[in-house]
Amino acid sequence: MKSEEKYLRMSFSERIQHFLLLTSFIVLVYTGFALKFPEAFWVKWTAYIIGENAFEARGIVHRVASVVLVAVSLYHLYYILFNERGKKLVRDFLPAKNDITDFRDSLKYLAGKSENKPLFGRFSYIEKMEYWAVVWGTVIMGLTGVILWFENFFLKYVTNTGMDIASTIHYYEAILASLAIVVWHFYFIFLNPDVYPMNKAWLKGYLSREEMEKEHPLELAESEALKSDESKV
Ligand code: HEM
Repeated sequence: MKSEEKYLRMSFSERIQHFLLLTSFIVLVYTGFALKFPEAFWVKWTAYIIGENAFEARGIVHRVASVVLVAVSLYHLYYILFNERGKKLVRDFLPAKNDITDFRDSLKYLAGKSENKPLFGRFSYIEKMEYWAVVWGTVIMGLTGVILWFENFFLKYVTNTGMDIASTIHYYEAILASLAIVVWHFYFIFLNPDVYPMNKAWLKGYLSREEMEKEHPLELAESEALKSDESKV
């Protein structure tokens, strides 16, 4: 039956990469804000449950999670440079002219000025922006984080002012990244009426035909055209 057809969205390797990214990110957010706000009630609860070692552990766990994040990011770089599927992935994430018209048409649709929702291919302009925001955010957090980590080494090159700048950028980018994930990414994965209660591609790797019709109709049409060409050969 057609409705049971499944479309590969995230390969096993991509799901593992995504899982390591999400777990390291959640740990970094928790421990990072626990470092910044040691008096917050949820930090006190953590110390109450885990014990006073929790205070010392914050910095250590933050650094361990940062190593996981950097490692998976470097693996991803290797993946998009040397793996065929990875190369296609990053090509499909590149901004294109239709992203601007899609954005304009989405605004019209959301404002009720048009009946037609723009049709997306493999990645919508929203997904592309999310991807590049993660790339950009990881570079910023990695660079400023390493400066904070190896303070004694960097202090002689960047002086106190440089350390303050690194710390300020790290903190504000942490707020921005956390909000981008909680408000933006979580909306599209959980609350978006087209996929509610959750887009399961990150767990199962596949989307159903109905989900493809709603979310990626142009990609669906492309893959159907390819199939019918192949069946003619
Ligand atoms: C690549 C990765 C990262 C590295 C190497 C890194 C490293 C560090 C280091 C060394 C510190 C200072 C810790 C201390 O005082 O003991 C720090 C603080 C902090 N980090 Fe990260 N971090 C990274 C990613 C992140 C991410 C993704 C977030 C959250 C989204 C985050 C949020 C924070 C916050 C809120 C602080 C406290 C800043 C302050 O005290 O002003 N970090 N980080």
